[in-house]
Amino acid sequence: MASRRILVTSALPYANGAIHLGHLVEYIQTDIWVRFQKMQGHEVYYVCADDTHGTAIMLRAEKEGITPEALIARVLQEHQRDFAGFNIAFDNYYTTHSEETRTLSSAFYERLKAAGLIDVKPVEQFYDPVKEMFLPDRFIKGECPKCGAKDQYGDSCEVCGSTYSPTDLKNPYSVVSGAKPVRKTSDHYFFKLSDPRCKTFLEKWTQEDEHLQPEARNKIREWFEQGLNDWDISRDAPYFGFEIPGAPGKYFYVWLDAPIGYLGSFRQLCDRTGLDYDSFVAAGSTAEMIHFIGKDILYFHALFWPAMLKFAGYRTPSQVYAHGFLTVNGEKMSKSRGTFITAESYIEQGLNPEWLRYYYAAKLGAAMEDIDLNLDDFVARVNSDLVGKYVNIASRAAGFLTKRFGGKLLPVQPTLPQIHAVRAAAPGIAAFYDSREYGKALREIMHLVDETNAWIDGAKPWELARDASNDTRLHEVCSQVLNVFRLITVLLKPVLPKLASSVEAFLNTETLDWRSIDTLLAAGHQIQPYTHLMTRVDTKQIQALTAANAETLQPAAASPGKKKQEKTVELGAQIQPKDEQKGTDAAKPPSPPTPLPEGEGKFVAAEAATITIDDFSKIDLRIARIANAEHVEGADKLLKLTLDVGALGTKQVFAGIKSAYDPETLKGRLTVMVANLAPRKMKFGLSEGMVLAASGDAPGLFILSPDSGAEPGMKVK
Ligand code: MSP
Ligand code: ZN
Repeated sequence: MASRRILVTSALPYANGAIHLGHLVEYIQTDIWVRFQKMQGHEVYYVCADDTHGTAIMLRAEKEGITPEALIARVLQEHQRDFAGFNIAFDNYYTTHSEETRTLSSAFYERLKAAGLIDVKPVEQFYDPVKEMFLPDRFIKGECPKCGAKDQYGDSCEVCGSTYSPTDLKNPYSVVSGAKPVRKTSDHYFFKLSDPRCKTFLEKWTQEDEHLQPEARNKIREWFEQGLNDWDISRDAPYFGFEIPGAPGKYFYVWLDAPIGYLGSFRQLCDRTGLDYDSFVAAGSTAEMIHFIGKDILYFHALFWPAMLKFAGYRTPSQVYAHGFLTVNGEKMSKSRGTFITAESYIEQGLNPEWLRYYYAAKLGAAMEDIDLNLDDFVARVNSDLVGKYVNIASRAAGFLTKRFGGKLLPVQPTLPQIHAVRAAAPGIAAFYDSREYGKALREIMHLVDETNAWIDGAKPWELARDASNDTRLHEVCSQVLNVFRLITVLLKPVLPKLASSVEAFLNTETLDWRSIDTLLAAGHQIQPYTHLMTRVDTKQIQALTAANAETLQPAAASPGKKKQEKTVELGAQIQPKDEQKGTDAAKPPSPPTPLPEGEGKFVAAEAATITIDDFSKIDLRIARIANAEHVEGADKLLKLTLDVGALGTKQVFAGIKSAYDPETLKGRLTVMVANLAPRKMKFGLSEGMVLAASGDAPGLFILSPDSGAEPGMKVK
């Protein structure tokens, strides 16, 4: 096979937030792919950088009393530490706040301008007269125009869920200074995406050429149908970023220089190593350029970026691979539930990074689907597949070899069916890795692992070991087993690089690559004494992990930038991100959707609003006896309760308390229910009320009990 030359990138993480398990889906997905291609002998460079510009970073640095440069330098260290912790092997990790990226950004701009694709138009926006800066939507709050809730963001209400524009807010105020924002007009620079040249190019590039996944292509067709608007690429001072050449006080919007940061990072790598930059990046390059991204930033990578490259005279991307979003236990990551888990805490709690690599790989496919980290399933799968099955193969043979045969192997025939089976499966598994179908690759590998264990069960080395006359046979079997183990390790190595390197040391074999599948350990080969390759996950570690990440919610009045921020990028719900400045003013040319920068997240209201006694008395709280409690087929969280509410008769309630209670222990208990809740039709039947339960930040759920003497049907007031 001809060797491929590939420049690979992952999206550049924002420099104002910690790396979390959601991010890691992407970096692990990319790293596995890169490691696989390198094992094939291809020439691959994996580059990334911190995305350092923008309002959020500027304001956060200010709040911390440091310069943005100091902030991004610190975060860069943290990010690099976290990535190294998960064995993400970048060939270069840089920052967008670099001379390389500055020079390239200016060059892109000049070329787009020369091509007649830059426009200047006035834009009216909210402006903070005290802070003297324009305000992105996320920095404006006020009262919801629909329900009147206080302290709602400029684009949507957390209380009633309605969406609107910041100009609709009642009594708007700047989150930065508290001042009442005023409308102000200034000139903005635009990339003329509506130009027919862009349209023609993008229609072909996105719809006809094979650069995108089918579902991404469809999504983009919808965007086309809505019409492509010119893209606002400038922000007024004060802004942390690169000043636009010839436009004092105007800065490139962070999303202009962010993808250019891919090239900036690669440029630095080339300058450092003497690699030929142009052969990867110049128009007409025969190398591949592949971007791994999350689905929330598809718009930028499938429209703006290819158009920028094309009309600035560069090559365009070969592929843009978008993945879905991570949920934890079926829900979006949440700080209050302790499922907004940082990379740092995972490592600090002593969990093995390769457990997570394995679990993600087992769940990842080529599509843009969301993936769920179910923590119980995580424990079960790692313990059963990785430790119980794969590592077990080595431990079943290694002890005998070391103790009985001095750690020396007998010759093994390549015709052995198990060796043949692994070799026969390898090309299919390689194809799965190449097409990002890691889940399918691992299923095939685990199938080989199962067959290997079944074969060992049949060969019964532990029985052979009881009688010295079987020594040769025992020696032979163990030598075979370790050879098969070595071959399977090759297949797993892209996912488990660290474990594979422990296996290399233990087997005293070469640095395994894909060609190692064609060789066997020679007769007389000496292995090292076996030390345990991987421990099991203990459920307690998972509990400690979520406890360590659970944050107490604070009253809602505090300022942004504090720890209690809840990141509200819609995990999985929407493919098209929120527009930072959507609908600020009808006169403004609409700009395309912009993802919510991290750190511009919403806050969670922890204290409920004050109500009157009349409000409270609307709720009909009653003592209820749990007459029956049972599991509901197909429901992960629910128990079906039959409640005896005295004079009100019996009511059926589906309660989300399965994780905390065995139904048997509930039968006969008294509790408190809301008896006048509107009945709700659920998938499993009608729910005619609600039982009350307490929960906090730590795991656990506690239903209420009345004091003795209370009777079913009594009112609670
Ligand atoms: N800075 C931009 C990317 C600029 S690329 C030129 C950005 N940064 S980010 O930190 O918010 O996200 C970095 C990557 O991580 C994105 O591809 C994003 O989709 C991905 N993820 C962030 N949270 C995620 C999940 N919860 N789940 C899966 N991927 C997620 O966007
Ligand atoms: Zn509202």
